[in-house]
Amino acid sequence: MTHTHFRIETDSDNIVWLHFDKADGGTNVLNFEVFEQLDQHLQNIAAQRPRGLIILSDKPNGFIAGADITSFTKISSAQQALELLQTGQDVFNRLAALPFPTVAMIHGFCLGGGTELALACRYRVSRDDPGTRLGLPEVRLGIHPGWGGSARMVPLIGGLKAMDLILSGRSVDGRTGKRMGLVDRVAPEHHLQVAARRLVLEAPPPYRAGWLDRLSNNPVVRPLLAGIFRKQVAKRATPQHYPAPYAMIDIWRRHATHLDEMLKAEAQSLASLVTGLTARNLVRVFFLQEQLKALGKDTDWKPRHVHVIGAGTMGGDIAAWCALRGFRVTLQDQAPERIAPAIKRAHTLFKRKLKRTPRITAAMDRLMPDHKGLGVQQADVIIEAIFEDVDVKRSLYKGIEPRMKPEAILATNTSSIPLEELASSLAQPGRLVGLHFFNPVARMQLVEVVTGKSTSSEVATHAMAFTRQIDRLPLPVSSTPGFLVNRILMPYLMEAVVLESEGVPPALIDAAATAFGMPMGPVELADTVGLDICLHVAEILAGHFNAEIPERLKRLVTAGKLGKKSGAGFYVYKKGKAIKPRARGGSWNREEITNRLVLRMLNESVSCLREEVVADRDLLDAGMIFGTGFAPFRGGPMHHIEAIGRDALLQQLQSLQKLRGDRFTADAGWVSLFNSSEETLHEQGTPEQDSR
Ligand code: NAI
Repeated sequence: MTHTHFRIETDSDNIVWLHFDKADGGTNVLNFEVFEQLDQHLQNIAAQRPRGLIILSDKPNGFIAGADITSFTKISSAQQALELLQTGQDVFNRLAALPFPTVAMIHGFCLGGGTELALACRYRVSRDDPGTRLGLPEVRLGIHPGWGGSARMVPLIGGLKAMDLILSGRSVDGRTGKRMGLVDRVAPEHHLQVAARRLVLEAPPPYRAGWLDRLSNNPVVRPLLAGIFRKQVAKRATPQHYPAPYAMIDIWRRHATHLDEMLKAEAQSLASLVTGLTARNLVRVFFLQEQLKALGKDTDWKPRHVHVIGAGTMGGDIAAWCALRGFRVTLQDQAPERIAPAIKRAHTLFKRKLKRTPRITAAMDRLMPDHKGLGVQQADVIIEAIFEDVDVKRSLYKGIEPRMKPEAILATNTSSIPLEELASSLAQPGRLVGLHFFNPVARMQLVEVVTGKSTSSEVATHAMAFTRQIDRLPLPVSSTPGFLVNRILMPYLMEAVVLESEGVPPALIDAAATAFGMPMGPVELADTVGLDICLHVAEILAGHFNAEIPERLKRLVTAGKLGKKSGAGFYVYKKGKAIKPRARGGSWNREEITNRLVLRMLNESVSCLREEVVADRDLLDAGMIFGTGFAPFRGGPMHHIEAIGRDALLQQLQSLQKLRGDRFTADAGWVSLFNSSEETLHEQGTPEQDSR
């Protein structure tokens, strides 16, 4: 066997250093072949009887990112999954049983299988920086750990802390890991090897959880805690849509500290989850995300200075985000006092994200108020986020263009004005591109990268690369009204308003949408976005698509009921929380409510695809999942159509058109969508089986 993925060194203290450097990729991931080679190495090392073993990674980006997710897609049966899980567990059991000190020396990503391997070592030493992350994020893929991650973490740090990490999928840096008991030592880069070596030489007693942490695994306490965990998880995910965290709670409640039983239960449960529809769709979402991430890779352009014009809701937050991500940022507005609130908000963001004073100060230093707009000359990227007014924007561009660096790009955050219209005021219209951020900027991952007919392809590529450099996901869209996300979202929001004006309780409408899998109901979403903003976007779209705007929305806006920000909209707000009167069942047909909401979204999706607002179905799904949180376990609107079947949905649209009017007229794009209903995913179990 050729040992392509590992390299071995034995030092003068007879300590073996096992370097993991996956041969065919830039990131260390675990698959069958890696396990085979690791197993062979462990057998050889055991025979060699060294003073200790240190496992480390030669990849600059991290230790081990987890399982090789591409191998998930090749698993066709629970039996096959079980074999892979068994193999991994056997290898990690062999590692855990070695009679000499073993250390995982961690830098960068140490996630999923990486953390499971580290847990099978006697000690863990972590590099001290925010980029080093340990965690078990499996629930985000619709599964849970299966190579002993939970079985080993639970006794090590206690059920409460371990289950919190596993159920949230959250990762922690080395220092937090040390506080939790997950990590034994934290050291800066240049001391990391020394710290690992010391652990072997000193061989201190392995970490043991404190009594309170141990108490959480007590058989009397577990059923109580399990109930609490279930309630917490239920706030985010239903058992039908996301079975994995519930399965995990059950395994812990039953087996907690019995390693062998827990390992067996982990593997069996995971083998069935990994082949289920939820995990398949979430794995698909993972690949969609990778696809968006790859979009910025075609250039090595490295902008350094960002100049943002307009320090309002969007511009202020965009500037803060860019500074947080390491850019030098100048922020311009009409007067210094208009910039001050944005700087204050930025400080709050930096405190929340960076935690430590030196880092917060450095970020504040990178963000410079600049009401005179001096930053224009230095900037590589200029982001305009001023009032949504064509003439004001055009005259601004005219003034700044002569001062811009020749290779700088000009990006507008407009949410509705066609780029061609804005670009016509420029001597070089090709340098204008849209970077449509969503509110709130710090939470919304997606940025629509809008290219007009005039946008040069180089500028579009640079805009995409820049989006990645600020750790956002770029979605290339064409310059059409509403672009992709708002255009699809709007009919759904308007249908919710129509339902409400028919007398359906708002809480019932919201419940129908969240039961389908949306993260927030449409009524609450409209209130959160602001009813004035909704109305404005709806008016723009209605002008283009000949749609009707419900009178109810206009009346609320006229009455100053703008939603959450004004304290009342469809709901009344107390301390920023919607007071939702209990929706009593009544005679409402819940299935019809869901259908009306969802079908309007699906119909608009089909329309966008036909008009090539995005290049393909995958990008559309990615845009809606990352831009709106569209039920990820359904894999996106187009994937959902494929799963349910085009013909069945068309029939529903036709009957709704008869019953409710022409807004349900099927878009012409449905006809050519999927060739026949035989192409559907019915064989895999349709989502009809779950929510509705
Ligand atoms: P805003 O009204 O909160 O802020 C606009 C800021 O621009 C104000 O502070 C104003 O003083 C400044 N400004 C206006 N003219 C200026 C000029 N000539 N030079 C310098 N500063 C100037 O507006 P908001 O909501 O931040 O929107 C900005 C842009 O972002 C608009 O194009 C809007 O369509 C778009 N957008 C808004 C979203 C939202 O949720 N609010 C979401 C996505 C895009």
